[in-house]
Amino acid sequence: NWTMASFRDLEMARIREQVCEGRVICGLSGGVDSSVAAKLIHDAIGDQLTCIFVDPGILRAGEAEEVVRTFRDEFNIRLVHRDASDLFLNALAGVTDPEVKRKTIGRLFIEVFEEEAAKLGGAQFLAQGTLYPDVIESVSFSGGPSVTIKSHHNVGGLPERMNMQLVEPLRELFKDEVRALGREIGVPERIVSRHPFPGPGLAIRIPGDITREKLDLLRKVDSIYLEEIRKAGLYDEIWQAFAVLLPVRTVGVMGDGRTYDQACALRAVTSTDGMTAEVYPFSFDFLNRVAGRIVNEVRGINRVTYDITSKPPGTIEWE
Ligand code: XMP
Repeated sequence: NWTMASFRDLEMARIREQVCEGRVICGLSGGVDSSVAAKLIHDAIGDQLTCIFVDPGILRAGEAEEVVRTFRDEFNIRLVHRDASDLFLNALAGVTDPEVKRKTIGRLFIEVFEEEAAKLGGAQFLAQGTLYPDVIESVSFSGGPSVTIKSHHNVGGLPERMNMQLVEPLRELFKDEVRALGREIGVPERIVSRHPFPGPGLAIRIPGDITREKLDLLRKVDSIYLEEIRKAGLYDEIWQAFAVLLPVRTVGVMGDGRTYDQACALRAVTSTDGMTAEVYPFSFDFLNRVAGRIVNEVRGINRVTYDITSKPPGTIEWE
């Protein structure tokens, strides 16, 4: 009789048995998988676990604060919070090619993580929120097509480089099971039901070069959009929803003046695994309301478009 409670007990026992008196470090992103893994491991071994949260400066509004509040203040987990935004944004300055953005970000995540792990004096174990589909994917990829659409940022290769053993308590679970486990062990609903968010973050939602000003603008648009989605009760029906800042200025009219400001795009899709996706069919009323709020409340944006491309031929993210 398999229940989440019995899985939790079994997995906690397995973690204790594997780790014994050893020390574990875990990279925390604020996403569902690493959050559930960290909480479970902490329930099992307490302060033998230290989490490292690298803030790359390309997260959504309020996310870094929420990670710290939840994990350090609420769960009392040992947490290293490294604000690496200067490092990331300096390295990204002037970079416009999507693949160069992705590779730069992936490399920096690993470098900063290693640096912080070294400051802690190292550890024998590295915890990761690897899921069953990740295990399958990395197997099928080796014999799969040789075309890379997007180089995904992950920490593959990190454990060998750092000479650590892996702790992967979620590697037999699918996403919906991870969510159920998260609820079982008291991970807050706002984290458990969170949409996927890519490692390269807002950097791949700003075609062209990335600046702090553009990031701030995008965060404002994105927050309004997500707030309206939640208010309308649609968040859980959608796989992913986000805004994209377009590298285009267009002419508009505001009051009795002319504007010449930036345009943005809104995206929302349904999907079961991210491999294919359908556009979410918002009502016209909803889109109209969101567009009205964005143009009125975000200075610097005077035009809003809705991306109606499925995957394929589009991808979910723009870069
Ligand atoms: P695309 O844009 O390829 O995205 O249709 C499919 C799903 O993957 C997410 N995504 C990423 N996730 N690291 C991640 O962890 C990445 O580099 C990355 N790139 C895309 C994307 O948000 C969508 O859910």
